[in-house]
Amino acid sequence: MDKIVQFVQKSEHNATAVAIFGAIGVAVVALKALSFLKVLVDVFLRSGINLKKYGAGRGGWAVITGATDGIGKEFAFQLASKKLNIVLVSRTESKLKAISEELEQKYSIETKYYAMDFAKGADEDYQGLQQLLTPLEVTVLVNNVGTNHDIPTPFEQESDKVLKDIIEININAAMKMTKIVVPQMVSRKNGLIINLGSFAGLVPTPFLSVYSGSKAFLSSWSQAIGAELAPKGVHVQNVNTYFVVSAMSKIRRANLLIPMPKPYVKSVLGQIGIPGGASTPNTSTPFYSHAIANWAIDNIFSRGYWVNHNYNLQVDIRKRALKKREREAAAAKSQ
Ligand SMILES: NC(=O)c1ccc[n+]([C@@H]2O[C@H](COP(=O)([O-])OP(=O)(O)OC[C@H]3O[C@@H](n4cnc5c(N)ncnc54)[C@H](OP(=O)(O)O)[C@@H]3O)[C@@H](O)[C@H]2O)c1
Repeated sequence: MDKIVQFVQKSEHNATAVAIFGAIGVAVVALKALSFLKVLVDVFLRSGINLKKYGAGRGGWAVITGATDGIGKEFAFQLASKKLNIVLVSRTESKLKAISEELEQKYSIETKYYAMDFAKGADEDYQGLQQLLTPLEVTVLVNNVGTNHDIPTPFEQESDKVLKDIIEININAAMKMTKIVVPQMVSRKNGLIINLGSFAGLVPTPFLSVYSGSKAFLSSWSQAIGAELAPKGVHVQNVNTYFVVSAMSKIRRANLLIPMPKPYVKSVLGQIGIPGGASTPNTSTPFYSHAIANWAIDNIFSRGYWVNHNYNLQVDIRKRALKKREREAAAAKSQ
């Protein structure tokens, strides 16, 4: 009889445990499903802060670094189309002048441009840029300029020049540009700073280790200064970018996961203040397929799994890049 009572009690305990764990399981799955639904609502249904808040159509100026090609050039055109005046910054004066003239003609806005090489990190270049920007009402800064390892390379084999350039262009330029414009944004209690982040900053990327670290810096720094500057009226947004067709990505054709700069930048500017697929503060993953990928990285498998995924991906890219180099060297020899 005792044994039967014990068996019944044990069964009741087991049933209670199964019910508790079942309920926890259902709650976890429901929360995950809700967080996924929120990503879809963010990227397909919500609209971000209107750029009019940041001086569009009211004489505000947007400063864009790396503004003559790829994503930066697209920022220049789309911000100009919203009636922000534009300051373009990159190295090649002829390209700056041509884009500047095109923007003025097409959108009836004012433009200025400034040629400098961020890799040099020269104080006099930043001082000259500060002189240009001080009299303007700068309401938007897009820290877009960036550089990467030429091909995936083991850290110990990478040239010191490449490592120095990545730090100077991806990290120091963003900090120095922000230091130039933030005081005037704070004094007006209004400003928007967009930093061009990368999935390489979200998941450490072997063989692009210093680029990956530089984008992780941007992510962490954006969250930290975002909290500092929010009470002062300045919104900071790090945008998590997967691949976009551009010279830097060396990708020429768009697909579902790899947009052209135009739809990509449209998604960024349409979702100011909205996280999309991002799960950290002051961060946005606005392009729909990137947002879903960001959600998957945060919610499916461990971070170790994704680092390993990146390792295998970069090993493969490196192999193909080295073969391409060999082919090019052989072709050059035979000429
Ligand atoms: N494309 C992607 O798949 C992807 C993915 C994740 C993140 N991102 C980020 O998005 C940003 C823009 O990338 P992108 O693909 O649009 O690049 P891109 O097409 O190669 O354009 C780079 C721009 O920066 C300028 N630039 C390059 N080096 C410079 C330097 N040392 N000093 C001043 N200007 C310089 C270039 O003009 P000049 O040559 O005339 O100077 C050009 O206007 C970067 O921060 C990148 O890390 C891109």
